[in-house]
Amino acid sequence: MTAQPAIRVQGVEKSYEQLHVLRGVDFEVERGSIFALLGSNGAGKTTLVKILATLLRADAGTATVHGFDVATAAANVRESISLTGQFAAVDEILSGKENLVLVARLRHLANPGAIADELLARFLLTDAGDRKVGTYSGGMRRRLDIAMSLIGNPPVVFLDEPTTGLDPQARNEVWQAVRDLARGGTTVLLTTQYLEEAEQLADRIAILHEGRIIVDGTLAELKQLLPPAKVEYVEKQPTLEEVFLSIVGADAPAGADTAGAVGADRKER
Ligand SMILES: Nc1ncnc2c1ncn2[C@@H]1O[C@H](COP(=O)(O)OP(=O)(O)O)[C@@H](O)[C@H]1O
Ligand SMILES: [Mg+2]
Repeated sequence: MTAQPAIRVQGVEKSYEQLHVLRGVDFEVERGSIFALLGSNGAGKTTLVKILATLLRADAGTATVHGFDVATAAANVRESISLTGQFAAVDEILSGKENLVLVARLRHLANPGAIADELLARFLLTDAGDRKVGTYSGGMRRRLDIAMSLIGNPPVVFLDEPTTGLDPQARNEVWQAVRDLARGGTTVLLTTQYLEEAEQLADRIAILHEGRIIVDGTLAELKQLLPPAKVEYVEKQPTLEEVFLSIVGADAPAGADTAGAVGADRKER
């Protein structure tokens, strides 16, 4: 028996009035894998994530998440997922720990404090746990946001553009958090506009373009679709060192220390 996929999308269509955003989207996400949905701004990534998270209804097609149909078993789907949007949904006035405790309480979990401490440690926020979130950097906020969405251990996690607007350091921190998630067995579907993000993180990459998935494969498979590497003639500007050497004469007199020609001491002639 083959395990059924964590997410299965078949022929999903969605329009906003005349705007036909999704025109028949198909893909599957294997359990415990990281799947990147790559597309430019306005491609329909958020629309698709909202459909999978049961926040929006598809006009046509079917989708299942964790084995549950998003249209007919929405409550089961919601119990199986978390959704982290592009903009951090954390409370600025509360500390990081208080934010986590609040969500754990809302979910009626036992030992909210212990759950909060465990997540703070996992996302390298222990030292900042008692500080107001208002003082956090962008990367810390996003990590806290992801940590909050993991309370209750959902098997499927949607991250909608998790690193948009972050600086490179913060982006790397979020990437590490996502890798750790998948290593723990969670299925991650993330959307991104960045090829590099998909390349760094994803087991499988699908490109959403003009309402359809135009490419779906592993990074290695995608690279094979590219034309072979070609050799190009590129004019190279001289370096300052080369300019210097051509002015002073690259053929230094015999006995001169050529390695020390630029800026080094010359003890004798
Ligand atoms: N509620 C809405 N009403 C009308 N148009 C919308 C709505 N939400 C999104 N759109 C439009 O649908 C297209 C896809 O949006 P979206 O799914 O947010 O794309 P992405 O997340 O890939 O940037 C865009 O052209 C957007 O302007
Ligand atoms: Mg979006």
